[in-house]
Amino acid sequence: MKHTDIKEVLTNKEFIGQQVTVCGWVRTSRNSKNVAFVELNDGTSLKNVQIVIDKADDPDYKDLPRVGCSLKVTGTLVEGRNSAEINVTPADIVMLGDCPQDYPLQKKGHTLEFLRTMPHLRGRTNTFNAVMRIRSVLAQAIHQYYQERNFVYVNTPLITGSDCEGAGEMFRVTTIGYSNEYKTEDDYDAADFFGRRAGLSVSGQLEGEMAATAMGKIYTFGPSFRAENSNTPKHLAEFWHVEPEIAFAELEDVIEVAEDMVKHVIGTVLEKCPDEIAFFDAHFEKGLKARLEELISHEFGRVTYTEAIELLKKSGEKFVYPVDWGCDLQTEHERYLSEKVFKKAVFVTDYPKDIKSFYMKQNPDGKTVAAVDLLVPGVGEIIGGSEREADYDKLIAAMKDRNMNLDLYSDYLDLRKFGTVPHGGFGLGFERLIMYVTGVQNIRDVIMFPRTVGSIR
Ligand code: 4AD
Repeated sequence: MKHTDIKEVLTNKEFIGQQVTVCGWVRTSRNSKNVAFVELNDGTSLKNVQIVIDKADDPDYKDLPRVGCSLKVTGTLVEGRNSAEINVTPADIVMLGDCPQDYPLQKKGHTLEFLRTMPHLRGRTNTFNAVMRIRSVLAQAIHQYYQERNFVYVNTPLITGSDCEGAGEMFRVTTIGYSNEYKTEDDYDAADFFGRRAGLSVSGQLEGEMAATAMGKIYTFGPSFRAENSNTPKHLAEFWHVEPEIAFAELEDVIEVAEDMVKHVIGTVLEKCPDEIAFFDAHFEKGLKARLEELISHEFGRVTYTEAIELLKKSGEKFVYPVDWGCDLQTEHERYLSEKVFKKAVFVTDYPKDIKSFYMKQNPDGKTVAAVDLLVPGVGEIIGGSEREADYDKLIAAMKDRNMNLDLYSDYLDLRKFGTVPHGGFGLGFERLIMYVTGVQNIRDVIMFPRTVGSIR
């Protein structure tokens, strides 16, 4: 259908005085004595274009399109009071799809909770338009960051036979129902599609390490799945995961890439999405733009886990979860550190080995591992990573400590046998980054179709 994007019509001055055809959905419409006005939006821009309908030849004009109708309109683009408008007569309007009055987005100002009940329609609101545009620009900026620095984009499998994080959060993939016919779970797994137990991957890291120890620097960008029973504003059962993996790298190198990448992608959004950032600054978080500008122009904070525990203990705050060396940091602790102590993004390093995954490099103190999390104000953890244990014997020992089935990880262990190298990487939760960039506080509102515990459609 030949037409021009409303974004082009509103921003490209060359169209002024020309005849243009636009398509879109009616956001508002109103009749007055000699003219009628329709605000049309096609999703290419946060701003609507105003259609001014001259009723001179049709004083009884009654077919004013209702909110939600889809139209194709041809008319002359003129400079309006605030932005460009299109002058038309009723005959220049083609109704593509009528919309009855029970269209749920009749009015503005619906709550995000209400909009969550209609994932198929909420994309038509300004909030979701802005979120999705920022999401798209961030994704492109992530690819650009890595592509320009010799990282190879690798697609790791979504169906896997090994649990990367070992936290028992894998969704099971099966084509057969369990029955008494199987004597043991092993029998059941053996009869299943792959001949052994399979699940949806919680992380592409293990395969990412195989790729990085061949191609040097790689990144993945795809969905990860977690069957966590966490009904919180920052957990999804299906989230998008960016996982760079770097050979010949130690923890410091991993941290450097993480900080540089986060700054690069946020800088790109500030440059490419000024309208969307202004929208979130006005409606979601006052001072958002200044906060993002501040973030990209200052060094991130640094603290070890042990120091962080001391800071939390002497804070005098009443935390719901008690703080002691060895405990996992909860969102309330993470937010206290980034919001109250550092007042910016902060890397926490060297966590106790018992609360982290088997693959992390063991520090000489015998108690901690070379792990890193990046905590940001408003969200908490957005990145988790580490230097990997490159020593075969130490890795085996850590796996045995966790009662892991070594047979399932034989390919992974081979990497430590055949030319092992110091290497490391991290995982960035893409939706958590979007929350941070937009100020939107619930992860369900930064992905078109959220999957969370107890909720799918
Ligand atoms: O800290 P995590 O579990 O680390 C890993 O998966 C490593 N294998 C990454 C690596 O080193 N390659 O997860 C990494 C990030 C978290 O910091 C968080 O931002 C995000 O993934 N994440 C989730 N995001 C949304 N919903 C969930 N249920 C998430 N679980 C983790």
